[in-house]
Amino acid sequence: MLPNKRILLGVTGGIAAYKAAELVRRLQDQGAQVRVVMTRAATEFVTPLTFQALSTYPVHTDLLNTETETVMGHIELARWADLIVIAPASADFLARLATGRGDDLLTTLCLAAECKIAIAPAMNQAMWAKAATQANRQLLLDRGMVFFGPEEGLQACGETGAGRLLDVAAIVEHCAGLFTTGLLSGKHVVITAGPTREALDPVRYISNHSSGKQGYALAEAAVLAGATVTLISGPTNLPPPDRTNFVPVVSAQDMYDAVMQTLDIADIVIGVAAVADYRPATLSEQKIKKSDGHNSMVLELIENPDIIKAVANSKHHPFTVGFAAETTNLLEYATKKLKQKNLDMIVANDVANHAIGFDSDDNETAVIWVDHVEQLPRMSKSNTAGRIIEFIAQRLAQKSGCA
Ligand SMILES: Cc1cc2nc3c(=O)[nH]c(=O)nc-3n(C[C@H](O)[C@H](O)[C@H](O)COP(=O)(O)O)c2cc1C
Repeated sequence: MLPNKRILLGVTGGIAAYKAAELVRRLQDQGAQVRVVMTRAATEFVTPLTFQALSTYPVHTDLLNTETETVMGHIELARWADLIVIAPASADFLARLATGRGDDLLTTLCLAAECKIAIAPAMNQAMWAKAATQANRQLLLDRGMVFFGPEEGLQACGETGAGRLLDVAAIVEHCAGLFTTGLLSGKHVVITAGPTREALDPVRYISNHSSGKQGYALAEAAVLAGATVTLISGPTNLPPPDRTNFVPVVSAQDMYDAVMQTLDIADIVIGVAAVADYRPATLSEQKIKKSDGHNSMVLELIENPDIIKAVANSKHHPFTVGFAAETTNLLEYATKKLKQKNLDMIVANDVANHAIGFDSDDNETAVIWVDHVEQLPRMSKSNTAGRIIEFIAQRLAQKSGCA
């Protein structure tokens, strides 16, 4: 339910802090990566070591700590997260968040974050009912934060009422719900991902550095958007995403054939794969031997079919999205590709930048239509995928006259 989602779990000082340890495990069970930030008060209830062992990452507790700041600075940590969940959230933390304080690491992260912030409060029922706490809750809701719970029941202090931390399984479900949009329900999305391999002989091939991460993230985002997803992938080291029809292929020709077979049923085709433009003109049946006395070798290459162009110009013409991985003149080349291939949309990214290119976990893209360009800031490939799916859903609705 949370494939590759990056969740920053903020733990504050309350009796329910021990339940956050279980929450780390349950979020991980759903495929999320979890990093934990604790307030100083939280460390009085549970040790950072517990969370470090469970999350397998160092636990961040201090804002003004030169050591942790050099490992992953607070701004970087805020940007890393696809979602911040504060569980349990103390009454005091709600007050600090509502007043916009930034006097510890967790409040500063919330101020710096651009992702969604979800709050699971836990406190004595009288503290929760207090006008000040309710006013803080309302203010935070008005500012776009979401609340998970609290629920009613018997409390650690022996009193009964509203204030208990929502059940851990329910918190996980609510987290997943934030990513599950239903934007593409009823649609069939076909995605190509990864590199292709163009064989020279039985042991050698020509390929590229595509990791498949962005394409797989798009497949996951499309599943969360309620689509039926076919992922046609060249060879990668990634596990096939859950709930997709996974079609492994090797060469550009294999990928072309697999995509063409889906055209009758595809509503949307997203070509993320780094397809080889050319393949060796001949495939040697035997391993090509090194020939003595020759210090160079000439390979003849012939053009592969242009998959995304063929899709965009097919009779059926599904909503067609291309990707442009460029090293120079990004917008110019991508826009040219969009028009030349008759695509509905193209996503451009600069693969010369190692922080966001082929094998990295982050991406920074420009989404281009004939009439508009939208720059997406650097963020996880998972978050980038979610945004791209939103754009596709919007444009698809406009195209079919529903928006
Ligand atoms: C034993 C004990 C249990 C507490 N439990 C809670 C609690 O469940 N909820 C809460 O809002 N505050 C609780 N508090 C008060 C908070 O720990 C206190 O307000 C603290 O300043 C919160 O700091 P933080 O928000 O930075 O984590 C408790 C305090 C003690 C001593």
